[in-house]
Amino acid sequence: MLNAERASFDPATPRHVAIIMDGNGRWAKARHLPRAVGHKRGADAVSRTVRACHELGVSCLTLYAFSSENWKRPVDEVSDLMGLLRLYLVRELDDLHRNGVRVRFIGGRERLDGDIVHLITQAETRTASNAGLLLVIAVNYGGRAEIVAASRQLAEAAAAGRVDPACIDEAAFEACLETTGIPDPDLVIRTSGEKRISNFLLWQAAYAEFVFTDVLWPDFGKEHLEDAIAEFRLRERRYGARSGG
Ligand code: IPE
Ligand code: IPE
Ligand code: MG
Repeated sequence: MLNAERASFDPATPRHVAIIMDGNGRWAKARHLPRAVGHKRGADAVSRTVRACHELGVSCLTLYAFSSENWKRPVDEVSDLMGLLRLYLVRELDDLHRNGVRVRFIGGRERLDGDIVHLITQAETRTASNAGLLLVIAVNYGGRAEIVAASRQLAEAAAAGRVDPACIDEAAFEACLETTGIPDPDLVIRTSGEKRISNFLLWQAAYAEFVFTDVLWPDFGKEHLEDAIAEFRLRERRYGARSGG
């Protein structure tokens, strides 16, 4: 974030915005284009959105790029999506780094191609000490798998006598999640008119505000992010307490 932008920081701006980027296929279908074109235009929307977050003073952006269930798609489509991720990292890393963006990935890496894992590690390492926008990209991510992995980690620690089960609390659990250290999302946006969570940030979104928009992801831009933030500002976050505190 530039100093001028920091100075204009608005406390009503969500600190962490998370987006379920949906609708690439329908965008392409409406134009009688191959789905791959929709995904390609979706990647352009990613670049626009990262820029917009900078400009609007959002400090963390999480993007759901590929779910652990997206492997169920035809091999060609999976390969197109992985190809775009590869291209994005190769093409945009310099720019992201120059703009002070810190990149972090969540999701299992074991099923990803070796060169993609390498690009991911490189992006994380190179940008690790940047102080601008934190860009979290969820690839092969599933909220349930993340919760199961955290449970297993704690169970193993307890079985080995390293953790007292009575001391396992929300903070201890959070420390085992892939998102540890990242504030919970304040605002979750899903494009394309679908109204479901599709295994995204199940634990972290416990008290997020949800905004659903009919805009298809390839059409998403700064004005749509502004609209979602405007809607977020109208919400009263009660966290279970009574209205007015
Ligand atoms: C989002 O667009 C991209 C991913 C889920 C990876 P879709 O490909 O899901 O587009 P629709 O939902 O079929 O329109
Ligand atoms: C959710 O979109 C996953 C991503 C945006 C990466 P999907 O299009 O895969 O979700 P469903 O299948 O409609 O729930
Ligand atoms: Mg979809």
